[in-house]
Amino acid sequence: MQSNFLKERLFIGGEWIETEDTHQVYNKYTGELYAEIALADEEIVDRAIEKAVHAHKQIDFPVEQRYEVLMRAAELLQQNQASFAETIAIEGGKPITDAKVEVSRSVSTLQIAAMEAKNLVGEIIPNYNAAGRFLYTVKKPVGAVAAITPFNFPLNLVVHKVGPALAAGNPIIIKPASDTATTTVKLCALLEEAGVPSGYVQCVVGSGRTVGEQLLNDERIAHYTFTGSPAVGKHIQQTIGLRKATLELGSNSATIVHHDADVAKAATKVAKMANVNAGQVCISVQRVFVHETVKEAFLETLINEVSRLKVGNPLDSETNVGPMISEKEAIRIEQWVEEAVADGAIVQTGGKRAGNIFYPTVLTNVKKGMKVVDEEAFAPVVSVSPYETIEEAIALVNDSKYGLQAGIYTSDLNLSYQIPYLLDVGGVIVNDTSSFRADQMPYGGVKESGNGKEGPAYAIQELVETVTVVVNLEE
Ligand code: SIN
Repeated sequence: MQSNFLKERLFIGGEWIETEDTHQVYNKYTGELYAEIALADEEIVDRAIEKAVHAHKQIDFPVEQRYEVLMRAAELLQQNQASFAETIAIEGGKPITDAKVEVSRSVSTLQIAAMEAKNLVGEIIPNYNAAGRFLYTVKKPVGAVAAITPFNFPLNLVVHKVGPALAAGNPIIIKPASDTATTTVKLCALLEEAGVPSGYVQCVVGSGRTVGEQLLNDERIAHYTFTGSPAVGKHIQQTIGLRKATLELGSNSATIVHHDADVAKAATKVAKMANVNAGQVCISVQRVFVHETVKEAFLETLINEVSRLKVGNPLDSETNVGPMISEKEAIRIEQWVEEAVADGAIVQTGGKRAGNIFYPTVLTNVKKGMKVVDEEAFAPVVSVSPYETIEEAIALVNDSKYGLQAGIYTSDLNLSYQIPYLLDVGGVIVNDTSSFRADQMPYGGVKESGNGKEGPAYAIQELVETVTVVVNLEE
């Protein structure tokens, strides 16, 4: 057990609740017990939904207060950056330097959400074909929102759901990934301190089979917001019927390196971004397509840079790559790499596992049909394949069931303007890898990468009902 062992309760209806059953959260690097978190049962989940519905119907949460709460939460988070970053590094295995970046991004996400609360307006509709009538819209909170969040950004991806929900005036019930739930519980305490009204934020920890299913099947929930796998995303959509969901479902993201690119710069950035959070990022660059004339130079720099990455304890500020979330996941990617090698892939560096650490890996000679190409690797693995024409590169990027983001390195201005129309993805990053995200931008994909957009300004629009009002001025 760690010396800074934590015992956490659940935040329901403005109260902190203890339970007999708990979930054990481990330090992903040392394996020591880090925290014990209360587990929600059916009655607690029901109470959380009841409190959220009550808050929506009975507790006024005006825009000024939403703004104040979110801004105050951002301020408190900034003040507690070190403590949050440490928790993320311990329970998520994310290197402390990256964990600090996640906290800073979360501060910014909260601030953006606060500002968007003030921007939430309806519009006046032109009255042609409706003479004598005044037409306009108002934006109304949808009601209780359920957020199901992943382990890979246990703070910022929660904030990306909580911030817009509160900015739009909705209560939210968060079901965080159990193995990184300490971060969410700490966020709830911070939101309480920031003055969030009772019932507007609740946290229920438990498995997808119990807590998740109960949330999905409860008609009192108006909207679901989920980040995770396509399989679960599809299940959510099938279960909730006509109710709406924002689904952010990952990808096997690609980046093109064209012959006119700054190849060394591209290779250095790919080496870094393919391995951030041990590749457990939805937009992590996984498939790189390099023009055949620059492939050798690109690979040389890439292999050199990837081999130099420091793998180890996330709490060490020198560490670039920490452990994966579990040994099961590390074994899974080890098997995918072994299968690919048996099918002709070549490991240029890495390819090895030690417990839940998987060493940063570069593959060549890969092809369709290999899991490391077709599926979301969600691991520190990147493959490099050559192409002859840009049309071929575009076809390779699009030959995927996913479509979240793609990157392209090129100095051809025309190509950079045309490419967003040609790639089947939700975001195109020019002269950078697919892994770029700024928290204010619309973020979300096509195909099996999901639907709907995050980024507070866009997420808010999914969390309000646009009500049309027609006033008959002739009566
Ligand atoms: C994700 O993995 O979907 C989030 C990526 C990010 O916010 O940088």
